[in-house]
Amino acid sequence: MSANIAEMEKRRDAAKMGGGQKRIDAQHAKGKLTARERLDVLLDEGSFEELDLYVEHDCVDFGMQDQKIPGDGVVTGSGTINGRLVYVFSQDFTVFGGSLSARHAQKICKVMDAAMKVGAPVIGLNDSGGARIQEGVASLGGYADVFQRNVLASGVVPQLSLIMGPCAGGAVYSPAMTDFIFMVKDSSYMFVTGPDVVKTVTNEVVTQEELGGAITHSSKTSVSDLALENDIEALLAARDFFDFLPSSNRDDAPERPCADPWDRPEHSLDTIIPPSANQPYDMHEVIRKTLDEGEFFELQPLHAGNILIGFGRVEGRTVGIVANQPMVLAGVLDINSSKKAARFVRFCDAFNIPIITFVDVPGFLPGTDQEHNGIIKHGAKLLFAYAEATVPKITVITRKAYGGAYDVMSSKHLRGDLNYAWPTAEIAVMGAKGAVEIIFRGQDAEGIAAKTREYEERFANPFVAASRGYIDEVIYPHSTRRRIALGLRKLRNKSLENPWKKHDNIPL
Ligand code: HXC
Repeated sequence: MSANIAEMEKRRDAAKMGGGQKRIDAQHAKGKLTARERLDVLLDEGSFEELDLYVEHDCVDFGMQDQKIPGDGVVTGSGTINGRLVYVFSQDFTVFGGSLSARHAQKICKVMDAAMKVGAPVIGLNDSGGARIQEGVASLGGYADVFQRNVLASGVVPQLSLIMGPCAGGAVYSPAMTDFIFMVKDSSYMFVTGPDVVKTVTNEVVTQEELGGAITHSSKTSVSDLALENDIEALLAARDFFDFLPSSNRDDAPERPCADPWDRPEHSLDTIIPPSANQPYDMHEVIRKTLDEGEFFELQPLHAGNILIGFGRVEGRTVGIVANQPMVLAGVLDINSSKKAARFVRFCDAFNIPIITFVDVPGFLPGTDQEHNGIIKHGAKLLFAYAEATVPKITVITRKAYGGAYDVMSSKHLRGDLNYAWPTAEIAVMGAKGAVEIIFRGQDAEGIAAKTREYEERFANPFVAASRGYIDEVIYPHSTRRRIALGLRKLRNKSLENPWKKHDNIPL
């Protein structure tokens, strides 16, 4: 018996060395943790239960039959994060560069299937040279098996990808189909074709970092939701982030004990709106002052800053925040901000997370660039996402809510449950000056100024909309947290279903 146990231990210890000490050292020299060290940081201490430690590839080409490493380049299993179950895979760059073989893919599929069966999130730590070149099409098949599962799991269990090394070629599409991507600065990159191919095909010279590094994808492309400084920061961020999410679409998000009084008045909000309509203020302040303990987990902070998205809590329960940001482009809706917020709204709706929307929006951004790049289609994404969402929706208009953007931003007409306005709200078809210049075209400057004042008096307030019931109540800014907390309590048992359909056809 003890000999059998000793054999098991010997095999285990050998498998845990992955590609060997030299390659582990090389990984460390690049400032990266190994696949197992990463899991140690991500998961609660001692909670990891590994599966398939002894799985090996079955490739017999290019001398591969003599190069077998147990585990085959990916560490898989389950563990807990603050006590909640999560399924994980962590690619091991020290084993064939973390490249994906058929068996490696099979291991990932096994944890994804297990997660789906019990309703638990999946977190993938990606660090891979892509398809196992020696295996050819078997590896491509493996990728497709993972892709298929990503799609079936979408909207059923949350999926989070951490990119902690190379992720290139078709391999990018598995993370791309997960809900959120966090990337590590300077050591991770994602692209469909790398700098060498780019140079050959387009003659452009570009570094890996510029082409597909963490900053590029967190600012320009929005492929990534966050860029973190190093492995540890990324893994700790993933732990914090995980606490906001429900385990599946059948579960509620975890509730955290909350010491912040639910009805805490925030008198500074009564004076946050500047006297001039063109002066900005920081919507982050409104958000933080409303949420429990001022904690806002912002996503995509470097991309489309004119809209803010992220999670927070009210009375210990997760809420999704969408907010126009007057500090950037006056909070206008454009292609990027519409796409950014639309996907977030859909995530919240899929996972039963109430959506709080703060509105200060002057409309859609004009210009040929926007029109020719499809603001009609992309703006429609956000409109569609809000209109289809059946989760509790609470809207607070702090200042401008102009034109089509008023409708889009979780208006009453899109089944907003509670639509509040601050007394500073201006709900109108457009800004007063623009409106007057159209309807009183030809009048002299004095006439325009007089009519503008008249238009402002008539429309630059929340009361016209409130008189029609489009606004449920005009509230004191300082009472915003209290109103939202009360609203969420009332809406806890909200039940609303869209008509049966196979699926909708959101303008992609
Ligand atoms: C097999 C691979 C591998 C791969 C790396 N290795 N990539 N083995 N298949 N795809 C091995 C190397 O041979 C090496 O083995 C070890 O991993 C580490 O690789 P290095 O090159 O020494 O590391 P580094 O200098 O850090 O460079 C990493 C890299 C480079 C940039 C990822 O290895 C690379 O360019 N690899 C090939 C990438 C690629 O073209 N993949 C296929 C893409 S197509 P030893 O034994 O020396 O340690 C694709 C299609 C997917 O993925 C389609 C899905 C639909």
